[in-house]
Amino acid sequence: MRKPLIAGNWKMHKTINEAIDLVNGIKRELLDFESADIAVCPAFTALSSVWEVLINTNIKLGAQNLYWEAKGAFTGEISCDMLKDCGCYYVIIGHSERRKYFHETDETVNKRIKAALASGLFPIVCVGETLEEREGEKTISVVKNQLQGAFNGFSNEEVDKIVIAYEPVWAIGTGKTATPQQAGEVHAFIRGWVRENFSDAGAGSIRILYGGSVKPSNIKELMNEADIDGALVGGACLDADSFVSIVTNSI
Ligand code: 13P
Repeated sequence: MRKPLIAGNWKMHKTINEAIDLVNGIKRELLDFESADIAVCPAFTALSSVWEVLINTNIKLGAQNLYWEAKGAFTGEISCDMLKDCGCYYVIIGHSERRKYFHETDETVNKRIKAALASGLFPIVCVGETLEEREGEKTISVVKNQLQGAFNGFSNEEVDKIVIAYEPVWAIGTGKTATPQQAGEVHAFIRGWVRENFSDAGAGSIRILYGGSVKPSNIKELMNEADIDGALVGGACLDADSFVSIVTNSI
């Protein structure tokens, strides 16, 4: 049985004080909630402060990106050890906004996952097609290529530590959620791909989150799909009440 995971991707929102307010609001309501795993992924600048609020709670901290080198002259980048130092447990890798605006590729996504796993961070790896690709009936081949690139060279044990997030680009920040059937179909493909390329057990246990305009009102029907194991939430995670409702409605 896979335990649901609801993770909030705060993107480039919230100053330190705003982040502390938000995480306190979430903690107040979800401190004793054990039916789903919960994670918040603030901007780098707020990680340490949010961690101070979360220490010894059931709510995990995640970062939104990392750089694969351990240290050195890489101005503006953040290493795995730096993230762990701030209390991070998860790290989002290969979000479509990183791919689109910052030219990340399947190859650099792979390097990032490798570095995260080596350091003990748990990657949340994002895949998903654009509207043009969906309309051209290329969804499955695009997602398959992204998976092949991202997971290249990993062992079964490593794959066990990875969370996958299917985020159709056309559903991100648009209010246009994939229907449960549309999402369910791609999730089933992803699980089958893991089974084919790694193991039955790995396919059975890997968590595949859906992301793209998830709200308190649509999480339930998405979670009804057999292969949807949780959500990576953007806009609706920036308000404590709405994030809390998504978590409580997810089970
Ligand atoms: P929205 O929930 O705002 O559509 O964003 C989804 C997302 O990109 C999460 O990583």
